[in-house]
Amino acid sequence: MTADDQKKQAARRALDFIEDGMKLGLGTGSTAEHLVRFLGEKVATGFKVVCVPTSDRTAKLATELGIPLTTLAETPHLDLTIDGADEFDAALRLIKGAGGALLREKIVATASDRMIVITDASKQVDLLGAFPLSVEVIPFGCDTTATHLKRIAAEYGCLGEISRRADEYGEPFLTDSENFIYDCQFGRIPDPDGLAKAMNLIPGVVDNGLFIGIANLAIVGGPEGTHLVEPE
Ligand code: 5RP
Repeated sequence: MTADDQKKQAARRALDFIEDGMKLGLGTGSTAEHLVRFLGEKVATGFKVVCVPTSDRTAKLATELGIPLTTLAETPHLDLTIDGADEFDAALRLIKGAGGALLREKIVATASDRMIVITDASKQVDLLGAFPLSVEVIPFGCDTTATHLKRIAAEYGCLGEISRRADEYGEPFLTDSENFIYDCQFGRIPDPDGLAKAMNLIPGVVDNGLFIGIANLAIVGGPEGTHLVEPE
């Protein structure tokens, strides 16, 4: 079974947690895309939901599938957000942001009563950090911000290259909010809680891809089927 099959399984199982009439946050990435497609099939049969997308990409797909969309301005409180992750640990601390949507993803998840993470089995780790940590940074003064990021990271035992993400044309990648992303190849993050707080105090940092105390449940697709992981 491929990783994508596992993602699809997790996304399908997530439908069991969606009730008719719910206000939902819709994540970004390939796993979230499976969920949006499954949800689109249910909506086509008359299932009622209203959703806040976490990216322009997810909004486009949901619109194509006829899923009713709203905004946080119109619907500030959501029942549930379902989204993918790049890594998660036993405490359900997440690294997110490979898709460049971490800021909207965090805003939408924290506007929700619950967040469910859907992943393939490879995303579960003992220690976060093998996957690069994304940090969203305002373009103004970004080199200075990156220097502060390196210094703060080192204080939290995180060494490794920090590089500005480029798009497929070699131009700086821009998020939906027109910010840059810096990817931090730390290898290991010994103190995710401390690092997340300290990074967000740097002027110019909008947010980082560590989601701490936000996810309530992970649905993990694996070779033997899906299993649920709650924070320990
Ligand atoms: C996007 C994200 C994604 O949820 C994360 O990158 C997982 O992606 P995928 O489901 O494609 O493996 O955080 O910003």
